[in-house]
Amino acid sequence: MIFATNNKHKLQEVRQMLDGIVDVVSLADVGLEGDIPETADTLQGNALQKAQWVYQRTGRDCFADDTGLEVEALGGAPGVYSARYAGEHCSFDDNINKLLAALDGKENRRADFRTVICLIEKGVPRYFEGRVDGVILTERHGVEGFGYDPIFMPDRFALSFAEMPLDVKNMISHRGLATKKLVGYLRQQNVAK
Ligand code: IMP
Repeated sequence: MIFATNNKHKLQEVRQMLDGIVDVVSLADVGLEGDIPETADTLQGNALQKAQWVYQRTGRDCFADDTGLEVEALGGAPGVYSARYAGEHCSFDDNINKLLAALDGKENRRADFRTVICLIEKGVPRYFEGRVDGVILTERHGVEGFGYDPIFMPDRFALSFAEMPLDVKNMISHRGLATKKLVGYLRQQNVAK
């Protein structure tokens, strides 16, 4: 099944969880090139847009995810704009620097990550959502993962996402929880076949 991403970190996370259920291939694996448009103003809208882009070009079952980091003190920003928070073509580091500056001196550092996965099967979309709550740290911790991982510490843990082994992040993360729901659905489908 095609996962509408070329983000190697996302691919690794999701592949680990779907191991033995479906073989997951990336856009590059099926020779799809170019930037997928992400112009919706909701996570669900972007996930659908990405999955539809692949479905229209391949006719194959596929799924896409869209994630946002929602920071309480910033009214939910960067949210659906998390990838381009510090501007078009910015790096993960630029985004982290901008967020740390925006929260400088603020007491409330609560935030959540939310992921929506859109699965398209025979043209029909279905959605799976995951959320994790936590805080934004005042500086980077750890080198694993990607994106905002070094500055996000989930509740009930004393480690940032970037300090956790992948299987631990997958157990509690936004994408991990959404993928778990996808796994449950695909398992049911396999049993029904
Ligand atoms: P995307 O549009 O789903 O790729 O996600 C938007 C942005 O959110 C990414 O560019 C990353 O900066 C960030 N992001 C998504 N998932 C994660 C994660 O698991 N950890 C940290 N940052 C993430």
